Amino acid sequence: MSTTLTLRRPDDWHLHLRDGAMLKAVLPETARHFARAIIMPNLVPPVVTGAQAAAYRDRIMAALPDGMAFRPLMTLYMTEDTNPDDVAAAHASGLVTAVKLYPAGATTNSASGVRDFAKVQRVLDRMAEIGMPLCVHGEVTNHDVDIFDREAVFIDRVLDPMRRRTPGLRVVMEHVTTRDGVQYAQAGGPDLGATITTHHLIINRNHILAGGIRPHYYCLPVAKREEHRLALRAAVTSGDPTFFLGTDSAPHVDALKEHSCGCAGCFTATNTMSILAEVFEQEGALDRLESFASLHGPAFYRLPPNEDHITLQKGAPVAYPARIDTGDGPVTVFDPLMPLHWRVA
Ligand code: DOR
Ligand code: ZN
Repeated sequence: MSTTLTLRRPDDWHLHLRDGAMLKAVLPETARHFARAIIMPNLVPPVVTGAQAAAYRDRIMAALPDGMAFRPLMTLYMTEDTNPDDVAAAHASGLVTAVKLYPAGATTNSASGVRDFAKVQRVLDRMAEIGMPLCVHGEVTNHDVDIFDREAVFIDRVLDPMRRRTPGLRVVMEHVTTRDGVQYAQAGGPDLGATITTHHLIINRNHILAGGIRPHYYCLPVAKREEHRLALRAAVTSGDPTFFLGTDSAPHVDALKEHSCGCAGCFTATNTMSILAEVFEQEGALDRLESFASLHGPAFYRLPPNEDHITLQKGAPVAYPARIDTGDGPVTVFDPLMPLHWRVA
């Protein structure tokens, strides 16, 4: 039994860093292990223009502690007014890596997202032309659709028609949570990728709801039935380059999680690599952790993998904080409900 595992330094292809005091507190948690991350633009107000993305990138770099290296890969928040020329210019200059599509009302700060998909068709066509990836939050928001069905319905009603109307569009299905999502991604060819979070490999909907409501396990898309969790574990350990790590680490202060209308998000930046090593070991697939966390993402985004490496060492259970302090209040670290034996050296 091997007790050390060396991999190319991983990247996080879906990350929420927020701003201000929260940014300062959570950024080192990611930068400690990850070289790059796709930075979600759902700030208040959202990051919709190239100028806003440049300013946010500068705030991220200013918040990075001395001696740490990290490259934020910026995204623009798509609205119905997004201009194709602005998007193309921000991409051509290297400032912006991708555009994020939130259906309006789907999740945290998504009110300025897209209601009428016809209104963004010109942007999608331009993105297809220039090969710029679209990161999609794949849930419908219709009140008559059960929240546990919203991902599968989105694929049928929105994503598949959009991809058929926009040949060549490169799409990342963000945080897939269902077998339906896994199967659609698997069949989508080289222009379709999918991120999978750490927490959706650990929890199913019982963890949120059975024996009491556990707000720190509430995120969007919400965790589904056990059969879907198992499909996600099979996908990440399959070696299929369609799937790569996007933690969706999404900090909210405890006061807003433990609330009568609690915010969605699991904060996993602190212990993600230890959790993933445990999961891949349980699945007998430790040799595939590197491809999921460090190789498939850069390949999809047409970037080189990182040159440097991290080493995971197996031993006594790893100690990590139950919560981290931020200037805005404590943020609870995701509890995987099992001891973690792999520490990042
Ligand atoms: O759980 C989530 N939290 N899902 C999202 O889509 C957004 C995120 C956040 O920004 O808090
Ligand atoms: Zn997210």
